[in-house]
Amino acid sequence: MRDFDQVVNRLGFNSKKWDACEEMFGSKDVSPMWIADMDFQTAEEIVEAVKARVDHGIFGYTGMPESYTEAVAGWLMRQHGWKVQKEWICHCPGVVSALSFLVDAFTEPGDKIIVQSPVYYPFARAVRTGGRTMLDNPLKFVDGRYKMDLDGLKAQLDDTVKMIFLCSPHNPVGRVWTREELQELADLCLAHGILIVSDEIHADLLFEGAHHTCFGTLGPEVEDRLILCNAASKTFNLAGLKTSNIIIPNQELRAQFMAILNRYNVGSGNVLGLVATEAAYRYGEPWLKELRKYLQGNLDFMMAFMKERLPQIPVIPPEGTYLVWMDFHALGMDDQELEQFCIQKAKIAFDPGYEFGEGGSGYMRANIACPRVSLKEALENLARAVEEL
Ligand SMILES: Cc1ncc(COP(=O)(O)O)c(C=O)c1O
Repeated sequence: MRDFDQVVNRLGFNSKKWDACEEMFGSKDVSPMWIADMDFQTAEEIVEAVKARVDHGIFGYTGMPESYTEAVAGWLMRQHGWKVQKEWICHCPGVVSALSFLVDAFTEPGDKIIVQSPVYYPFARAVRTGGRTMLDNPLKFVDGRYKMDLDGLKAQLDDTVKMIFLCSPHNPVGRVWTREELQELADLCLAHGILIVSDEIHADLLFEGAHHTCFGTLGPEVEDRLILCNAASKTFNLAGLKTSNIIIPNQELRAQFMAILNRYNVGSGNVLGLVATEAAYRYGEPWLKELRKYLQGNLDFMMAFMKERLPQIPVIPPEGTYLVWMDFHALGMDDQELEQFCIQKAKIAFDPGYEFGEGGSGYMRANIACPRVSLKEALENLARAVEEL
């Protein structure tokens, strides 16, 4: 079993998180707590499977074998109770690229696509760069918890609204939506003929007490209007292998999406990504259990630290993901000052909240998927910097 406390050097491996700090933040001398990958080695079973494939020494064009789709379907059934037919699974290099393909496949210029900010910024980018119109339905913050504003959404709907990008669990605020919330959203979408894109890339990363409801489990009527984005990349730290699954139960919709994948010639699969994902979904569960325990320990540590040392920076406790949303308003800085303060004084590269859209200003998103010693060092630096203000 991996030792999650082990600090593994990532500098010099072309890691965006580590090697691009100077380019992104203007400083090398920062703790990288931004982009969403983990500083942990993946499960040994995955590394072994990839090594065995590497040993073959030939890396020609590769298709998706049945054992792969079986493994994906098996995982979704065991972990999330969703029964997926193997032919529903389309390969795509990434969920982010899929968002743009989905925009192309199912909407026309000028159509509206719903996002619920603050949210993972590629959602808005896919809408904007695709020449579509974003209908932003910002989350509400009620009694210390984020909620979807479904009444607000209902009031804004018209027949130009074609699709919703749902983030479930929600990056950056860490909500794991309840079945009731999702059902209400589904009812609204079905009533207005809106296609539901449920990005469930964080579905396996749950803190104690959280239960993820897979959108596909809401019944056949919902399945018929659903496009579900899945990948082993967040769960098992495989993002560089560029492999995701876009699952589309409705045959016509699937054909429309496949036509776009074929147009760009991206549907066939990455040889090592397929091997790693299959191994993850077949053998990765024990590792994932340990990972969750470790992330819970990191979160507990951080919550206690912040409460004691930095009570002026409230932390919104995440229910899922390994991303933590922190409210810096009490420091009285504008977004640029806050960003520079974190980089220059606290020596930490967070993702600035304003990038996630409305409601993100004054917040920072911290990635806590790192050895505890690194987390502790970063938080100590933050506390020291705040004390010096
Ligand atoms: C909600 C969400 N979707 C998608 C991605 C990235 O997906 P991919 O690497 O498959 O493009 C991320 C990464 O942070 C994410 O948080």
